[in-house]
Amino acid sequence: MADVVLSELTKRFGAITALEPSSLSIDDGEFVAIVGPSGCGKSTLLRLIAGLEEPSGGRIMIDGRDVTDVAPAERGLAMVFQSYALYPHLTVAENIAFPLRVAKKPKAEVAERVGAVAETLGLTPFLSRRPRALSGGQRQRVSIARAIVREPKVLLLDEPLSNLDVDLRVKMRHEFARLHGQLAVTMIYVTHDQVEAMTLANRIVVMNAGRIEQVGAPLALYDKPATLAVARAIGSPRMNLLPATIAAVHSNGADIRLPSGALMPVAVAGEAGQPVTLGIRPEHLVPDAGGAFGGAVELFERLGPLSFAHLGSPGLGTTIVAQLPGDRRIALGEILSFRGEAAHLHVFGEDGRALPRLTL
Ligand SMILES: Nc1ncnc2c1ncn2[C@@H]1O[C@H](COP(=O)(O)OP(=O)(O)OP(=O)(O)O)[C@@H](O)[C@H]1O
Ligand SMILES: [Mg+2]
Repeated sequence: MADVVLSELTKRFGAITALEPSSLSIDDGEFVAIVGPSGCGKSTLLRLIAGLEEPSGGRIMIDGRDVTDVAPAERGLAMVFQSYALYPHLTVAENIAFPLRVAKKPKAEVAERVGAVAETLGLTPFLSRRPRALSGGQRQRVSIARAIVREPKVLLLDEPLSNLDVDLRVKMRHEFARLHGQLAVTMIYVTHDQVEAMTLANRIVVMNAGRIEQVGAPLALYDKPATLAVARAIGSPRMNLLPATIAAVHSNGADIRLPSGALMPVAVAGEAGQPVTLGIRPEHLVPDAGGAFGGAVELFERLGPLSFAHLGSPGLGTTIVAQLPGDRRIALGEILSFRGEAAHLHVFGEDGRALPRLTL
């Protein structure tokens, strides 16, 4: 176990800045998920920590030691990639043993460690097979076994489940939760998957365009996204975002005007005339015949326990997605209206930052 501290860590590839100066402290034993759109710098951040890329600036501390100039193998960490990168000609046991062999560990210790790790990951029956005779999930478990066999202090995972089918992803998600509890290792986990990030992580790091946008507990980010990028990154389906204007301000907040002309009071600080983006999550729209959010159903997705209605709303300048109970019967073209509870409305300024909330 070890803490990981990044100070002003930066990476440029020629003219491209893959990582703006970024600082982050990850606690000993923490499970941190990194999310954000493709190309935002998630893998770059992980590869810098691993020592697979050389930083253009900044420092990396692991377990209180400055490892910025330390070779990858000496950093006390292991990395699992999206592609399992197993040796095809070696058996499962030999694949898992590989890092120990490289480190010239005694034979008896290698056998013992491989046996123990294989047991932890349910790989004991497959030890003499070659990777091609395994399923995708089993192969990924071998690559995880190989990563943890040297008992790293920090385990880095770059979209480790993205090549697996849905069933296996769910199974492996539970496996990661169990492994984290069992190994008490610090884990930094890059994922595109909302559910993985929300359910596995103690904290989520949201990145956008080479910057760390916000760091916080999953529900804190869901309840109070600090920026539009975070609002977009957390929550599925995504938060509805509408162009709007502040029509008037008063002592207990601002009246936000939607393109349709509808006004709604929100307890935020802003300026009259200021262009803003109004956000409301699909699950926070409440059916209300007189509500400001409405339109004709263009698409209806029935997921079983719940449904999502996509409403064409020309008057609102965007399509609105609303969550409905699973048993709600809907006809395409039907007009639905909703109101948004003031407590669940989010208001962002032109710079993408959430307007300060007023506590009344
Ligand atoms: N070796 C490289 N040379 C030049 N540019 C690079 C290199 N590696 C990454 N980049 C660029 O740096 C930026 C960040 O890339 P990175 O791989 O970190 O993104 P990511 O968030 O992991 O994306 P994804 O979700 O698609 O995996 C991208 O614009 C990418 O094109
Ligand atoms: Mg990546």
